[in-house]
Amino acid sequence: MKAFYLLQTLGTVAVILVMIIVWGVPLAPTLLFYEWLTEIFSSSNKWVDALYTGLSLSSSVIFYCFSLLLFSSLLQFVLHIRIKEKSVFPLASFTTIRWAFCGQIIRATQPILQHFVPSFVSNLYYRICGAKIGKKTQINTHRLNDPCLIRIDDGCVVGGGATFNGHLVEKGEIVFAPIHMKAGSLVGAGATVQPGVTIGENAVIASHGLIPKYRTIPQNEVWGGLPARIIQSSSERREMNS
Ligand SMILES: CC(C)(COP(=O)(O)OP(=O)(O)OC[C@H]1O[C@@H](n2cnc3c(N)ncnc32)[C@H](O)[C@@H]1OP(=O)(O)O)[C@@H](O)C(=O)NCCC(=O)NCCS
Repeated sequence: MKAFYLLQTLGTVAVILVMIIVWGVPLAPTLLFYEWLTEIFSSSNKWVDALYTGLSLSSSVIFYCFSLLLFSSLLQFVLHIRIKEKSVFPLASFTTIRWAFCGQIIRATQPILQHFVPSFVSNLYYRICGAKIGKKTQINTHRLNDPCLIRIDDGCVVGGGATFNGHLVEKGEIVFAPIHMKAGSLVGAGATVQPGVTIGENAVIASHGLIPKYRTIPQNEVWGGLPARIIQSSSERREMNS
C-alpha cells in the first residue's frame, strides 16, 4: 500500500508537469499575438482604448484556444499508441505510460474543446489525434477519450456529452480495443460506448444508453438502456417509417 501511495504521489507530480507544458507552451505565441495587437492601435480616448484592450484580450483568448488545440493534438499525434485490434498490456508497461500521458493531455484540453463541438475545428483536432472521421459527420462531444482507437464513418452523429472509451483496466491489466461507428449511425446524447464496440450502418443508440465492451449492434436497429438492449428491430423501424 505504501508503494502505491508513493507511485500515486509521483504520478501527481508528473501530471502537474504535463499540465505546465500543455497549457504553458501555447501561451508563448499568444503573448506575442497580444503584444502585436496592442502595438497596432492606441487612442487618447480612454473608452475607445478600454474597448480595444477588451477586444484584444478576447481575441487573444481565442488565439490561445486554437494554439492549445493544435499543440495538444500534435503531441498526441506523436505519442499515441498504434493499435489495430484488441490488445492487452501489463499496467507497468511502456505502452500504458504512453497512453496515460496522452490521456492527461486530452484531459488538459477538454475544458477548451467543449466550446468547439460540433465543428470542423473539433473534427480536425480529433483527426490529428489519430481518430478516423468520415465526411458529413457531426461530433457533438468533447469526450472521445481515446481518439486513436476510434473510427467514425460518413454521415454519423454523436450526441452531446456522449462518452467513448477505447480502454479499460481489467484484472490488473489494461485492455485496448478499437471502436467503429459505421456510416449513418447515431449515438444519442449522454450515451456511453465501451471498448471494442461496432455500431452497424444506420443503427441508433438511444440517449443515455450504455453499450458494453465488444458488442456489435446490427445495422438499422435501435438500442437503449443500461446496459443497452434492442428497442426496435430493423423491420419494426422500416414499418414505422413507411
Ligand atoms: C431511442 C429513440 C431513437 C426512440 O425514438 P422513437 O423512435 O421516436 O421512439 P419512442 O419515443 O416512441 O420510444 C420507443 C420505445 O423506446 C423507449 N425509449 C425511448 N427513448 C429511450 C431511451 N433513451 N432509452 C431507453 N429506452 C428509450 C420508449 O420508452 C419506448 O418504449 P416502449 O415501446 O416500451 O414504450 C430516441 O428516444 C432517442 O433517444 N434518440 C436519440 C436522440 C439524440 O440523442 N440525438 C443526438 C443529437 S441531439
